[in-house]
Amino acid sequence: MAFLRLDKYLSDMGIASRKELKQLIRSGRVSVDGKSVLLPETKIDCGSIVSVDGRILKYSKYHYYMMDKPCGILTATEDGRQKTVLDLVTDEMRRMGLFPVGRLDKDTSGVLLLTDDGEFAHRVISPKSSVEKLYYAKVDGIPDAEDVNAFEKGLILGDGTHCLPAKLTLQGDNTCYVTVMEGKYHQVRRMLASRGKPVLELRRMSIGRLKIDDALGPGGFRELEQWEIDAVFLSN
Ligand code: URA
Repeated sequence: MAFLRLDKYLSDMGIASRKELKQLIRSGRVSVDGKSVLLPETKIDCGSIVSVDGRILKYSKYHYYMMDKPCGILTATEDGRQKTVLDLVTDEMRRMGLFPVGRLDKDTSGVLLLTDDGEFAHRVISPKSSVEKLYYAKVDGIPDAEDVNAFEKGLILGDGTHCLPAKLTLQGDNTCYVTVMEGKYHQVRRMLASRGKPVLELRRMSIGRLKIDDALGPGGFRELEQWEIDAVFLSN
């Protein structure tokens, strides 16, 4: 069992700022295994039942959330002028130190992961991990078999950027699905534009086998279950 200072435990959980936590604990609002603990530096077992104002917490060092990112919001932790995805979450989540895993353009919607686990984020983003990101695109034009072949071979964009082989799935109309294993700047938009099919609408549908939860709605978010975190690294 791991032991932690009570204030560190509560800080990892984003309950309050370090300063506010001391006051919170000293005022008797925090209980450990049913007993009020008044000293912030008390070492507690992470498996203990800790409650704040009667609300029972379940400790985890790292946190993993899925958001249905809406269009019009920046994928960033803060911005002086524009709303970011961190403006959509709770104070508690912001205090956890969550950040977005990779980036969706301002006008792209869909599944975005938020975490405070840097190693996890790196593993999801790195092309070496071959994590598949599936996008639904509405384009100006009708993608065809030649586009499918060009994606399969690996596109070279106008500025000379080489893309890894990618999968384009036709729908027979002006929509398609694109699967990529890397995340270059505006990648899917630039790939489709390079084939003369500029993107009108873009939505990320899944990361690995983790699909967007349509019940969330634009801007909605929820914590992931362990099997969902594992599903990110499974291929389809
Ligand atoms: N590719 C893009 O062009 N934009 C995104 O937001 C994600 C992938």
